[in-house]
Amino acid sequence: MKLWAGRFSKEIDQKTNDFNSSISFDSRMIEEDIQGSIAHATMLGSCGIIEQSEADLICKELKQICTDILNGTLSIAPNAEDVHTFVEGELTQRIGVSGKRLHTARSRNDQVALDIRLYLKKECDLLYNQITELITVLCKKAIVHKGDVMPGYTHLQRAQPITFGHHLMAYAEMLLRDLGRLKDAKARMDELPLGAGALAGTTYPLNRSLTAQLLGFDRVTNNSLDSVADRDFCVELASIVALAMVHLSRFSEEIILWCSWEFKFVELDDAFSTGSSIMPQKKNPDIAELVRGKSGRVIGDVVTLLTMLKGLPLAYNKDMQEDKEAIFDAVDTLKMCLTAFIPMIETMKVLPENMRNAAARGFINATDCADYLVNKGLAFRDAYKITGTLVAQCIEQNLTLETLPLEDYRTVCDTFDNDIYNAISLDRCVNERNVLGAPAPENVQAQATRVLKLLTEQ
Ligand code: ARG
Repeated sequence: MKLWAGRFSKEIDQKTNDFNSSISFDSRMIEEDIQGSIAHATMLGSCGIIEQSEADLICKELKQICTDILNGTLSIAPNAEDVHTFVEGELTQRIGVSGKRLHTARSRNDQVALDIRLYLKKECDLLYNQITELITVLCKKAIVHKGDVMPGYTHLQRAQPITFGHHLMAYAEMLLRDLGRLKDAKARMDELPLGAGALAGTTYPLNRSLTAQLLGFDRVTNNSLDSVADRDFCVELASIVALAMVHLSRFSEEIILWCSWEFKFVELDDAFSTGSSIMPQKKNPDIAELVRGKSGRVIGDVVTLLTMLKGLPLAYNKDMQEDKEAIFDAVDTLKMCLTAFIPMIETMKVLPENMRNAAARGFINATDCADYLVNKGLAFRDAYKITGTLVAQCIEQNLTLETLPLEDYRTVCDTFDNDIYNAISLDRCVNERNVLGAPAPENVQAQATRVLKLLTEQ
């Protein structure tokens, strides 16, 4: 029997019921639904809208339903219209007419808006913790590898020397911004929509602040229409999750490159790699590839949510039922990716020697060579040109700036002296890059320590 029986003379067509039902994907909010109903009933009782004894009975039985669901003695009916209908139906079956009083001064429209907010607030915390864990891993690794020189790239061409620690901290910075965005989004969604009713509030003397307080909301919503029509918080969270996925995807792309024989900067632990069914020599970075691949579906989730909302008149429309699969998928995907990604990063073997070898080729100290001349009084443009000539000469003779004899330097420009070799040594190039934010090991150490402290203090 449907909630809306009364106006109808027939049961809904079975296949149409399947089409209409959201139970297969909204049942994951059952605890939030029950929690919301307990708060609502408590408030109704305290305001004298229903008898206190009935409110108590409702709350007691709702708690029992929750226990029964969690211990498996009650299973969710697959043909229920949605989780809200299921819980109310089960309650009424158990306690009769008192159960029928629960929905006083409430609509499924404000109820569903409440449930999603309650659910997503918790998910924000879980994501926050996982991202914090990843940043912690990165900072600790960055400190270990603060002095391991590697080539920094632009256009995927070797550009200037950095360290592996510095490179890892770049991802820590991105993820810190993700944390900030998560915190903001959670704060913005932290308001109680219950009391908005179907769309126009209610004539009952509700105490919305009490319900908000019981459920741990910071405040109540200010417009009943917006309360039931708003899914901005889903779009916002999905966008934040998509951006975090894009960060992981870029990182994954680098891991994939670094694992290749062409780079061999890192080797993934066997527990986080896969083999090939035919090629015995293969060790594949499947986890990183999957994370990169899955970022696409999360971007899709954002598009789904935006498209779902963009043409909807106020207030609730059934289209909005489509919000849940998209936002759940986005959040689930990021959580799943982080679960595999964090230990993969934590256990990966770093091969500093290979990084240094790569850094020693590709003339990544050419800027430093030009800077050497600038320090001796030349204009940067002239120094740049002279260094370019030297690089061309090295390439022709299969030499590097480190191995090019001083006579050759001096033929191009007699300002060069023996101290050029020290000036272009990779360690010096990195150590001297000590302007704020630059890769000098002491900077990386300081920043990683600062971030670690920040994360433990929050
Ligand atoms: N299952 C619905 C949803 O997820 C709940 C709200 C139903 N409201 C309604 N008026 N049909 O959006």
